[in-house]
Amino acid sequence: PEAITVQELANRMAARGGEVVKALFRMGVMATLTQTIDADTAELVVNEFGHRVRRVSESDVEQGLEGTVDTDEELLPRPPVVTIMGHVDHGKTSLLDALRKTDMAGREAGGITQHIGAYQVQVAGGHKVTFIDTPGHAAFTAMRARGASVTDMVILVVAADDGVMPQTVEAIHHAKAANVPLIVAVNKIDKPGVNLDRVRQELLQHEIVVESLGGDTMEIQVSATKAMNLDKLLEAILLQAEVLDLKANPNRAAEGTVIESKLDKGRGPVATVLVQRGTLKQGDLVVAGAEWGRVRAMLDDKGRQMKDADPSLPVEILGLSGVPSAGETFVAVENEGRAREISEFRQRRLRDKQAAAAGAARGTLADMMA
Ligand code: GTP
Ligand code: MG
Repeated sequence: PEAITVQELANRMAARGGEVVKALFRMGVMATLTQTIDADTAELVVNEFGHRVRRVSESDVEQGLEGTVDTDEELLPRPPVVTIMGHVDHGKTSLLDALRKTDMAGREAGGITQHIGAYQVQVAGGHKVTFIDTPGHAAFTAMRARGASVTDMVILVVAADDGVMPQTVEAIHHAKAANVPLIVAVNKIDKPGVNLDRVRQELLQHEIVVESLGGDTMEIQVSATKAMNLDKLLEAILLQAEVLDLKANPNRAAEGTVIESKLDKGRGPVATVLVQRGTLKQGDLVVAGAEWGRVRAMLDDKGRQMKDADPSLPVEILGLSGVPSAGETFVAVENEGRAREISEFRQRRLRDKQAAAAGAARGTLADMMA
């Protein structure tokens, strides 16, 4: 059950703190403004003041996010969301750039692209793949720490001439912890004298057994700079996606995760979000982290204005009250009251956490002085 300070309760009823203290006193509860009372006591006070109680607990809010369960008929196939990881200089960015050039839709649009943290590529056969370009593993860790699960699979880039390196191992651990399948992209195979067997053996030491060694991890040999075997890599991604049977209900209020965000001088708070359920529409009211607002404009990774965004599509949204953090969830809500309620709840939770952390820090300091 939720607890609340007397002052906070007074604020929420727009009552004077002293009046609440008096009401408590009449009920036989001695409490000062800064003291915490339990939810039941608070409810009695609220009734005393002639208000109706509407408790917003964490589970209420989270239920709002999780919402109703979608039925099988409502679930439709969605594109896979793929994160590319690997050691420094093994060619992650080059590979993403190369894959992006295979985008059929992008080519039609003239190929003028802007950098956002995630983008969707349309590949042959009408299939789509969403790539997330996490700036280093720290962002991935931060997102996971917030409980955000955005990726369906990991592409592990290993440079053939360098083999398995510390950050390769880190990426393997990330994929395992996130419990998502991993596809190995052995890159730079255009370089002379590369030893593929050595790479496979090194991967084996970290329990990644590629198909050629009898395991079930797909291994694709590519060259990002020479654009070799990119089609094979995309094929492997689509094959893996098929196995995962990825689905979402597009016909509901949108939900998803903030991938990155910034405060833009001209445009105000800008958040790149990944829609994971439902369809996000321009004009929707959304709560993202503890921020909220109406989606004033929505842009895809090619800078095109979007009217709506369906599952697995990453978009930049404008119109939020502030800048949410990466890894926080967003949800479209029906009205401003609900938006404020969720936003205030999250702000309160954030303050509580900060206060708890500060308290813990003080405790440690006190321990050290003792
Ligand atoms: P960080 O972002 O710093 O971790 O590096 P990265 O993994 O993104 O590597 P990046 O794409 O920046 O490539 C590093 C270097 O490797 C660059 O000089 C690329 O030109 C080169 N490179 C990438 N892919 C290939 C390839 O397939 N063949 C060859 N020969 N060079 C490549
Ligand atoms: Mg890079």
